[in-house]
Amino acid sequence: MADAPVDSVTTVPVAVVGAGPAGLMLAHLLGRAGVGTTVVDTRTRHAIATTQRAGILEADAARDLVETGVSDRILREGYEHEGVELRVAGRSHRVDFRELVGASVWLYPQTDVFADLADARERDGGAVHFGVRDTEVLDVTTTAPRVRYTAPDGARHEIRARYVVGADGSRSMCRDLVPEDRRTRYGREYPFAWFGILAEAPTSAPELVYAHSEHGFALISQRTEAVQRMYFQCSPDESVGDWPDDRVWDTLQARVAGEDGFRLKEGPITEKTVLRFRSFVQEPMRWGSLVLVGDAAHTVPPTGARGLNLALHDVKVLADVLPRALGRTGDPALDAYEPRALRRIWRAQNFSSWMTRLLHTEPGGSAFDLRRQLGELDNVVGTRAGRAYLAEQYTGWPTRGHRP
Ligand code: DHB
Repeated sequence: MADAPVDSVTTVPVAVVGAGPAGLMLAHLLGRAGVGTTVVDTRTRHAIATTQRAGILEADAARDLVETGVSDRILREGYEHEGVELRVAGRSHRVDFRELVGASVWLYPQTDVFADLADARERDGGAVHFGVRDTEVLDVTTTAPRVRYTAPDGARHEIRARYVVGADGSRSMCRDLVPEDRRTRYGREYPFAWFGILAEAPTSAPELVYAHSEHGFALISQRTEAVQRMYFQCSPDESVGDWPDDRVWDTLQARVAGEDGFRLKEGPITEKTVLRFRSFVQEPMRWGSLVLVGDAAHTVPPTGARGLNLALHDVKVLADVLPRALGRTGDPALDAYEPRALRRIWRAQNFSSWMTRLLHTEPGGSAFDLRRQLGELDNVVGTRAGRAYLAEQYTGWPTRGHRP
């Protein structure tokens, strides 16, 4: 297999496995630095573009996308949010990002980030091959790694590179190339999942609502004035077929109900998915000539929408050091990548896991557990320090600017 004849051989400094936002943003940033890339992905462009993911971008990530020429659509079609609501036992508490930490986030779906990046690659003439199969990554412990793949037309190709970047998501095959006895996988499973919907309905609240109720968590998010994204905590083995629209709306309404009479505006549900999640990190993130970025190296539970932002941070750091590794400094320049990326990764792991446990109810939890959790929520929403902590973590840690 590794040496079977191929129909074409190309040489490029960096081969990227995975054409999601992390892989494409890396290719885009390296392109701006004059470094060529070839990106391959087993999924079709359409499949990636239509898989619903999170919708919140840190202001710094949004600014990077705008300023590096990927998209100014964020500014026209995205929504800047200067706070979120935490709804506890049917009462709303606003966490004002602007006032607490001078920050904001952008509601701009990952599907749009992907579409903008794919368009930008096309515009800039970047090589991106979607819908490939039988991808093989070879020789990563040498200075001449290779990627082999079969194109949709059946032709077999080989890319010869100096580095291979594994940006192939939470089911990464690249991360398995780090030998078992040289890698550590850290992780935690959760005894619940999210039931996610897209609904054709008007917006129910001006900002995102993260709701804790004794029945479980719910999140009210948005896409546009006419399309809403909502989630509620469910069992990981829940099946979508058991959830007609009425049952979904009753569940969501019960989780946000309160004395203020708040009700969600309902409409036809156009998509239903059960989203399982976990906390996970693999170290090291680099093995020889292979470097892992984004979900390939780490995943977070979705509460707090850190996943995409974290992947974009990895890529920003890597795009900073890779040109130097390819230039005069050589390979040692890459040593800076992992420590810089990992610091933010573990901070985000902590925040995502903390916010998940803060807002979800444990199946089989005791009356003590619930009261303790309400005490913690009171500490968060009822003190300025608590709200500021949430605001600072949620809006991300600056990659530039004056905040420490
Ligand atoms: C969305 C998803 C999240 O996980 C989150 O914390 C906030 C928003 C979303 O899909 O809009």
